[in-house]
Amino acid sequence: MGEEWDGKSVITARNLCKMYGPHLALDDVNLEIPPGAVGILGPNGAGKSTLFKCLLGLITTTSGEGTVLGYDIRTEGDKIRSRIGYMPEYDALDPDLSAIDQVRYAGELLGMNPAHATRRAHEVLEYVGLKDQRYRKIETYSTGMKQAAKLACALVHDPDVLICDEPTNGLDQRAREFMLQTLRRTVSEGNRSVLMSSHVMDDVQEVCDRIVMIHNGRIVVQRRIEDLARQIEREIEISVWGGASRMQQELESRGFVVRRLGRVLRVDRADDNTTRNILEAAVSADVQVRQMQEYEPDLEDIFLLIMERLGAEVRSTSDLMTAAHTGGDRDE
Ligand SMILES: Nc1ncnc2c1ncn2[C@@H]1O[C@H](COP(=O)(O)OP(=O)(O)OP(=O)(O)O)[C@@H](O)[C@H]1O
Ligand SMILES: [Mg+2]
Repeated sequence: MGEEWDGKSVITARNLCKMYGPHLALDDVNLEIPPGAVGILGPNGAGKSTLFKCLLGLITTTSGEGTVLGYDIRTEGDKIRSRIGYMPEYDALDPDLSAIDQVRYAGELLGMNPAHATRRAHEVLEYVGLKDQRYRKIETYSTGMKQAAKLACALVHDPDVLICDEPTNGLDQRAREFMLQTLRRTVSEGNRSVLMSSHVMDDVQEVCDRIVMIHNGRIVVQRRIEDLARQIEREIEISVWGGASRMQQELESRGFVVRRLGRVLRVDRADDNTTRNILEAAVSADVQVRQMQEYEPDLEDIFLLIMERLGAEVRSTSDLMTAAHTGGDRDE
């Protein structure tokens, strides 16, 4: 561990900026990440992979500073990489190798002696569910098996922190479940810290207790998931028959913030009188309220709400896969 490490923050970043030519990919990033599982969520091009590469010391930062386990990301990348397992988003496997050779090789590259690397390769391949297929060439692997093999490579040296860039990418439901369960186990039984990125709130929710949302290279939210719901104002959801737009106008003229989804209106709950005010508005607008309930936002809603406020055109987290870039383009 770094000499200065206090054991509290696994990762810190202060005013971290990264430019690719003229394009600002990380914009004044400040982070304070304690041990545990953290999900990094953001649309395509938000800067998730760039952030990981900066933290691993794989690319140089333009300005600002950061630490991982107390090590300086600018000068101690080699020490960081020896204590961190990194599962990159791209396919980093050699198709000609068997999984066992690939993982052993990854261990040796990280400085393990051959006997130790071999022993660990068997262990981690079993851990990620590839015990029976470990002697097969990677070129015969499915996408799910390749992702599992990448995870095995990242775990071979028994790292304190695991950084996974979109670990569920391309996985079907079963493989996805297994991947998320393995990551969860790594945190709960292995007592390791995990930092994972995803487009999908559901993935993050299954593994992580904290979330970092990133948008156009800026950190927009950084907090415990359980606190996130509390931060969002409650809404009251009503369904009306006929005159939904009349009702919306009436409510808005009374100063309420209204979101309309067809027949369903969601009204910001201003105070204890909101319910009564809604009923009065219904009388004035001459519409019938069929249903009224306090609306409990789930994480997906919260995420969408936050993105809406930021002006990102995103309708669901799966949309993030195709969301329009607002940042610069990759060198293509
Ligand atoms: N090597 C590079 N050269 C130039 N621009 C780059 C480079 N790598 C990334 N970028 C740009 O930096 C921004 C952030 O990219 P990054 O890959 O970190 O995003 P991401 O959040 O990981 O996206 P995705 O969800 O698509 O993986 C994007 O606008 C991207 O086009
Ligand atoms: Mg990425």
